[in-house]
Amino acid sequence: MFRLAQEQVKPTEAGIIKAIVQSIIVDQVKAHKPGTVARRDVHAFSHGTVEGVFTVLSGLPAEYAVGLFAEPRSYDTLIRFSNGTPNSMADILPNVRGIALKLKGVTGKKLLNGQEDSDSADFLMANNQTFFIADVEDYVPVHDLVGKNSFIQLFRQYPADTKRLLASLFKLVKNPLTTAYYSQSPYLFGEGKAVKYALIPTELSPTLSFPNVFDKEYLMHAVEKTLRNRSTRFTFCVQLQTESDPIEDPTVQWSGPFVALATLDIKQRGNVPLLESSGEALSFNPWRVTAEHRPLGWANRLRQLVYKSDFEWRDGVNASQNQPKGNGCPFHRS
Ligand code: HEM
Repeated sequence: MFRLAQEQVKPTEAGIIKAIVQSIIVDQVKAHKPGTVARRDVHAFSHGTVEGVFTVLSGLPAEYAVGLFAEPRSYDTLIRFSNGTPNSMADILPNVRGIALKLKGVTGKKLLNGQEDSDSADFLMANNQTFFIADVEDYVPVHDLVGKNSFIQLFRQYPADTKRLLASLFKLVKNPLTTAYYSQSPYLFGEGKAVKYALIPTELSPTLSFPNVFDKEYLMHAVEKTLRNRSTRFTFCVQLQTESDPIEDPTVQWSGPFVALATLDIKQRGNVPLLESSGEALSFNPWRVTAEHRPLGWANRLRQLVYKSDFEWRDGVNASQNQPKGNGCPFHRS
């Protein structure tokens, strides 16, 4: 039995997080070739950034009319689709697929340090219901073995993590617009309640067509093709925590139903080609939200410093090289 929305921080956590952040930035600095764009540490390559409208449904029951969802209204939204790896890989190869939303015109103080007055709120998700590492103390050893491609060693030492990682990597995605995405980690939902998020496409993947494996960027081309003559829609849902659902272990799939709170309509684009680099100057951060939606659990506490430090590093390098500089939440790349 778990107490609802209650976090439990291990005494070792702060030191582990500090070391992870330092090692990410040291590795980023080492890997960066002067004169080239400084990219994200992971989710570095995108299938494009598109525009949409996020609409909170009217008539939500009181227990769901919380924070951003308290009143029915629409928010202009930017959506960046990505592969999870640091390197550019052909879309047919195993990968995690990510989606990042930036809602504009969201009032209220944000939790992200230095971005309190931002008028955006960000939601980040990936195409698997759960994260693959259970405990903050396993993060560094597991990550190191994955980084070295030592999968046999990884399987010997962390069999459950290895199975979860492989299951999340080997999912055939035909089109980012017909894929479901999940927050994996929990978020506060007003006082004493916690939720996980999901974005469920209203159209399912076509069952017959197989992706063109020779097209390295078939996912971007699928988005272009789908949005050429029409818009497409996702439903934004939350899953309330029950007493059998843990906050601190993001590898556990929660038990309750997903309940629809909003729609996300992705706009038709006509023949405008998508650019892989179009979201490069943007920063998406799960902590750019108001206090009612505070990120919970070790993975989110780790992300608080990781995303901020990674963005500040890459944005600083890009500005010094006269690449477009982001302000953390520009609506369009300049
Ligand atoms: C818990 C589930 C997680 C999900 C659903 C998730 C999802 C995402 C997504 C969708 C992006 C791309 C954002 C964009 O388009 O700018 C991203 C970026 C990133 N993620 Fe995660 N992530 C998770 C956990 C983690 C963890 C535990 C770490 C720990 C190191 C991490 C490190 C990063 C980094 C460094 C970036 C790039 C940040 C930037 O430079 O802007 N993520 N993540």
